[in-house]
Amino acid sequence: MRNGTVPPRGLELSHAVNVEDVRAIANRRLPAAVSDFIDGGGEGEITLHRNRHSLDAIMFRPRALSDASTRTLATTMLGTPVSAPLALAPVGLAALAHPLGERAAALAAAGAGIVSTLSSSSCWSLEEVAEATPDAPKWFQIYVWRDRGITSDVVQRARASGYKALVVTVDVPVGARRERDLHNGFTIPPRPTWRHTGDMLGHLPWVARFGWDEMFGHGLTMGNFGGKAAVTQRMAFMERVNQRFDPGMTWDDLEWLRSLWDGPMVVKGITNERDAAEAVARGIDAVWVSNHGGRQLDGLPATIDVLPAVVDAVDGKAEVYMDGGIRRGSDIAKALARGARICMIGRPYIYGLAAKGQAGVTKVIELLKEQLDNTLALLGCASVEALDQDWLRS
Ligand code: FNR
Repeated sequence: MRNGTVPPRGLELSHAVNVEDVRAIANRRLPAAVSDFIDGGGEGEITLHRNRHSLDAIMFRPRALSDASTRTLATTMLGTPVSAPLALAPVGLAALAHPLGERAAALAAAGAGIVSTLSSSSCWSLEEVAEATPDAPKWFQIYVWRDRGITSDVVQRARASGYKALVVTVDVPVGARRERDLHNGFTIPPRPTWRHTGDMLGHLPWVARFGWDEMFGHGLTMGNFGGKAAVTQRMAFMERVNQRFDPGMTWDDLEWLRSLWDGPMVVKGITNERDAAEAVARGIDAVWVSNHGGRQLDGLPATIDVLPAVVDAVDGKAEVYMDGGIRRGSDIAKALARGARICMIGRPYIYGLAAKGQAGVTKVIELLKEQLDNTLALLGCASVEALDQDWLRS
């Protein structure tokens, strides 16, 4: 799923010109089984690829001689001013990429003036991340667990720690069959076997750093749910999800969550415009169009293709965000032109983390901002807020 020219051999982060370059650096550092866990998708990865193909197929309609000498990327998300229409999506188990994981990502987002969403499946606890970024706008993402007591406890802790919005992810009723992970025998925590020896020997700095983190740091744990003590059994990612998450979740559970949370609520994982309308009818503040980066139900449409129908169904009564395959500033411009207010990124910032921790995430955010600004200039458009369907060929 390469998106860019071939990165030169031995490329360093300071010379990276696009997300694909950062991915190449990340993949040099990570064992293949870990890269596969990050890069992989559900079943045949049709949806994963569709996200990119559909973005690539969109064509711009620029306006000549329209004075784009000054441009602004600044906008707002649920009333919070942000430096660009970009935010970090929740990515669990970020310590796989770097021991400073979610904390480093949140610091990079804070430095760049954008919102980061902490996954409830983070290795660093929500309190630790909040303490590191006290003044930054932060959102918290939750899955509904079978144990409602655990779910409500973590939601209340997020509120007490100053997270501004609650993002409820609704596209993981069960774990998906991610075939790369099944082939690799990938477990949490990872179980090195003879089969993985070559892969591990080829990535000794990662092995050393990960081993150190497992012994003395956070390790690959559920920071919000008891940390290391709670991860006593090694099991496949899918099994862990199925043991904890509730496939019986309904719209009533969303209302129950609403009763626990007095701030804005966002529903993430919507690809059906009817669900978007239902969410709005139930008072949700923002609809996040996502197919989990092609990691859950395979055979879904690309998010960029369902976005216009969702925007229509929402009819201005809530904000609409989109993620899935965003790898360039021009992708953000396309999604905004189709009606998204903000684009989220998942894998791109995890590549940054793997490449160089917080500095790597900062680099990815900077690259996307530079590219978006360049796209606006080439289009002849002065502001991200001015982007609409008229800037695209239909
Ligand atoms: C995710 N995603 C995710 N979503 C969520 O709501 N909670 C989570 O804990 C996770 N964890 C997670 C782990 C990994 C390794 C990946 C790659 C993704 C999905 C994520 O928020 C987002 O929807 C996608 O990553 C967006 O697609 P791109 O930007 O990765 O193409």
